[in-house]
Amino acid sequence: MGKPELTWDHSDPVHGRTMPAPFFYDEGIFAEERERIFLRCWHLVGHVNEFREPGSYVVQDIFEQSVVVTAGHDGGIHAWHNVCRHRGNRLMTERRGKVGAVLRCQYHSWCYNLDGGLRAAPRTEHLADFSKADWSLRPVRLEIFAGWVFVTLDDGAPPVREIAAGAEEEMRRFLPDLDTVELVEETDVVVEANWKVIQENSIEGYHFDLSGPVHKELAALIDFEGYRLTPRGLWWTYIGPPNKGATEAYGVPLEGATWQTDWFFNIGIWPNTTFYSFPYTDMIGTFIMIPIAPERSILRFGYYAPRGRPVPEVTRAAIRWMNTQLGPEDIELNITNQKGLHSMGFGSGRYLIDPARPNQSEHLVHHFHKLCYEAIRG
Ligand code: FES
Ligand SMILES: [Fe+2]
Repeated sequence: MGKPELTWDHSDPVHGRTMPAPFFYDEGIFAEERERIFLRCWHLVGHVNEFREPGSYVVQDIFEQSVVVTAGHDGGIHAWHNVCRHRGNRLMTERRGKVGAVLRCQYHSWCYNLDGGLRAAPRTEHLADFSKADWSLRPVRLEIFAGWVFVTLDDGAPPVREIAAGAEEEMRRFLPDLDTVELVEETDVVVEANWKVIQENSIEGYHFDLSGPVHKELAALIDFEGYRLTPRGLWWTYIGPPNKGATEAYGVPLEGATWQTDWFFNIGIWPNTTFYSFPYTDMIGTFIMIPIAPERSILRFGYYAPRGRPVPEVTRAAIRWMNTQLGPEDIELNITNQKGLHSMGFGSGRYLIDPARPNQSEHLVHHFHKLCYEAIRG
């Protein structure tokens, strides 16, 4: 007899149980998530301003698949399967880079134009029934949403502008720098935890003033009573109004500082993309949990600041603080949480859902779990 199928009754978030622990480590569940979530969803690659110069490229891996997004000579941005059509060699091996006129395979030197066409294939002049026109790179679907480049491996996926209808307006309210930012820094951290464990942690305010000291610093920068977490279908926001009395942030005085918003603004798009801004910074952060194995993820921190001017000191301090303080404090919790999920003394827990404490409620965690469950079982 095979293993009984794992199920979860998510109908009553208030009285019911949390998503059962095996959903966070079971190999079969992970395989289903790969198939039904990650091979079908949209993946954030970067900002359009990373593709201003022809030949610039960014590589995005999705499990064993790899996509290369290129800036063409026509001003367009295009996505291709990152594989040479000769014998299947991975084409570009760096995460980012810039080529001259062609993407060149380092095996037998087949060279592809930035429009995907095969320009040169050495010693194929006498090859029977061979036309370069038949061996272009294979395209991947790409969409630009709110200035960000997304790709999907599913030609039938609804567009980002449809699944995240209304999200761009919300982003523009809080992120006036949206169109002018460029990448300042990107850091990948391998975390020994399921990707959903990392997501959960970011979409609840319950642990804010109850966990580590850095979290309390963040809670003190906002009017924490006013923190609100709002599900909007396949996207969600968690937003905190400013604490107008703040005089310093991230260990740096605020006097003389400039910022795009003093709010703590976060927006998540199904399943694993988050854009955010820390209060009093001139920066847009991206926060992406990329599944590698059931209990291993890459946490990708991207930092984008307005192009053409120096990054303000408070913003620099915020990036440092995220990389060395807040990030690690949460990652530590992700790891201990992942370990605990295996315990014979656990199985399934409870959501703290209390309308009287909307700033701390875990309703958004339930919402996210439900989306995950429906994606693989719906
Ligand atoms: S595999 Fe790329 S040129 Fe041979
Ligand atoms: Fe946290």
